This record gives sequence, C-alpha cells and structure tokens, in this order.
Amino acid sequence: MRENGRQNSWGSRSVLLSTSLALFLALTLGGMVYASQGQGMGGGYLPNIPLVTHEGENVRFYDDLVAGKVVAINFIFTSCPDSCPAETAKLVRVQEELGDRVGKDVFMYSISIDPEYDTPEVLKAYRAKFGIKPGWTFLTGNEDDIILLRKRLGLYMDEIQNDDGDHNLTFIVGNDRTGKWIKRSPFDNPKVIANLIGYDLFDGQIPRKNAKSYANVPDAPEFSTGEYLFRTRCESCHTIGGGETRLGPDLLGVTDRRDPVWLARWIKEPDKMLAEGDPAATDMFLQYQEIAMPNLRLNEEDVAALIEHLQTESLRISGRLARTDSVNPKSETKQ
Ligand code: HEC
Repeated sequence: MRENGRQNSWGSRSVLLSTSLALFLALTLGGMVYASQGQGMGGGYLPNIPLVTHEGENVRFYDDLVAGKVVAINFIFTSCPDSCPAETAKLVRVQEELGDRVGKDVFMYSISIDPEYDTPEVLKAYRAKFGIKPGWTFLTGNEDDIILLRKRLGLYMDEIQNDDGDHNLTFIVGNDRTGKWIKRSPFDNPKVIANLIGYDLFDGQIPRKNAKSYANVPDAPEFSTGEYLFRTRCESCHTIGGGETRLGPDLLGVTDRRDPVWLARWIKEPDKMLAEGDPAATDMFLQYQEIAMPNLRLNEEDVAALIEHLQTESLRISGRLARTDSVNPKSETKQ
C-alpha cells in the first residue's frame, strides 16, 4: 500500500459534484469549513464505507461512526516508524485532556491505511501498547474504500506522502450536526486540540470548565527554541521531572546520565541506533514496551537547542539554577 502515495490523488477530482468539489478543496487547503446539513458532508459526501473495529465489530463509516457526532479522525498504519507513534502519542494526551467524555459525546477514530497488514488483532495490540482508553476506536477495512475516504476528507495528497514509507501528520476534527470540520496539525498543543474538540466544535453548548487553564495556552509562544521544540515534539511522550510515566522515560538529568555524543545522536536518529544494535538503545526499547522513539527529522541546531533545554530544565527543577552564570555559558549567545 505504500505505492498509493505515488498515485495521482487529483485524478478523481473531475468526478466530484461541484458542491462536493468546493468542500473537498476547502478541506484540502486546510482551515475551517462549514457545510450546512444535507449539503453533502453527511451521508452524501462522506462515504458510508464498511469498516471493522479493533474488536472485530462491523460498522459503517458514516452511519455508525460519524452521523450526529463530534469526532476526531486520523489515519495511521501500525508499522509506521516515526510519524504515527508521534501522532498517536499526541492524541493520547488529547484523550487524557478530554477524559471520560471520549466515547460519550466525542469520539476518536484511527483508521489504518495499510488494512492488509493491520488486521483487527494487530490494531488491538497496537492500541494496548499505547495505553489507549475506551472511546477511541481503531479501524481497518478495504483499501480502496479507505483511499476514497481519505480523498473525501482531504487527507490524501501526493505531496504529503514522503519517501520513507512514513506518512503525513494530519488529522481532522468535525461536528456532523453543524457541518463544521477542521484539519489540525498534530504538533498543536494537546490542550488546544482538546479544547477545539470538546468545546469549540460544540458551538458554545458545553460550558467551559477549564476556561482559565485553556486561556493560558499561548498562541504564539515566547519559549526558547528548545522549549518550543520540546513542547511540540517531545512532551507527548516525555516529562522532565514530572514524575509521570508517559510513553518514554522521564528526562530529568538525562544530560548528566548520558554521554553527550550518544545523546545528540539518539535525539537525531534513534531509529538508526536501534537498527545498529546500540546496547543502551536496545535495553531501553525492550524496557519501554517496544515502542520505538521516533526519528523526528530534527537538524543539528534543533538537537542542540533541545539538549540545552533538557539541561536547563533539569538544573532548574533540581533547584540548582541559583548560580545561573556558571550553568550554561552558551545560553548568553542565543538571545
Ligand atoms: C512517540 C513517543 C516519543 C516521542 C514523541 C519522543 N520520544 Fe524520546 N523516547 C521514547 C521512548 C519509548 C524512549 C525509550 C527508548 C525506546 O523505546 O526507543 C525514548 C527515549 C528517549 C531518551 C533516552 C532517555 C534515557 O533515559 O536515556 C531521550 C534523551 C529522548 N527520548 C529524548 C526525546 C526528545 C528530545 C524528543 C523530542 C524531540 C523525544 N524524545 C520524542 C518515546 C518518544
């Protein structure tokens, strides 16, 4: 199925009806889309394809999963090395934010784009590995049906498939009742995504309990590069001194624990180190449920900024930052 990325996804454009085409393009171009009910985002536009859940239950995409609901949908494949685990980890945080509303008034779906390999059993095991709670369903089905669905949702494009057998990081949230659908980047803050799904999509019908904390989430963060990268790329799997177990280990003091060269290479290309059989990497991989740390395609500067952030945070948290001047001489030149 990795060949699919090379097909021309625009080929089917001409067969779409004009209202559907406008909606398709709007979704493809991103941003917010409103479609009044009955105008096509419902039963007509969204295909009612048959799918099978990770529990082996047969369902129909539109009738059973979407009709009348607020939903978050993404596409994954379980053998995907980097982007899917990163995206799944981010959505785990979103599910945590939404708490027991998931499965009650909001529904999360991850649909396989490699349905031949991703049987219900494989999806079930993947779900368990990531500690996913009820209300978030994994689905598989017929490959052509799923391609059609991705096209209709504007989540199937040539340029977003890259060469590594990895796939694009995009998902979509929507409210079938209001016809409001929004594509989001999984690099968004999970609180922002949760807020969007749990409140914005309900058009004010749900009182905001956590208005204060959500309001504190900055739009244009004033973080250092390292902190910004950490929050967007790493925080879904790691804390620094948070004492909380996420998918990967807590990183407090990791700059002291690990050799600097090892650490820099690990952050840049953990996949290669695992493949080479690096002993520390292999031990950790086995310890962490065989969830591999993804290669996040970071450059040298990103890695340096992240390491500086890990070090500064570790020192701050362990309360040793009093002697700021001697701690990190390099941070002077950054500003
Ligand atoms: C999808 C989850 C995920 C994401 C995202 C992620 N990691 Fe990891 N990380 C892991 C896992 C799991 C391990 C444990 C090793 C393994 O299983 O491969 C790990 C291990 C590590 C370690 C080694 C810790 C130690 O004790 O030696 C460091 C350092 C690290 N990650 C840094 C980062 C940084 C920096 C980022 C962001 C750029 C990041 N990780 C993003 C999952 C993730």
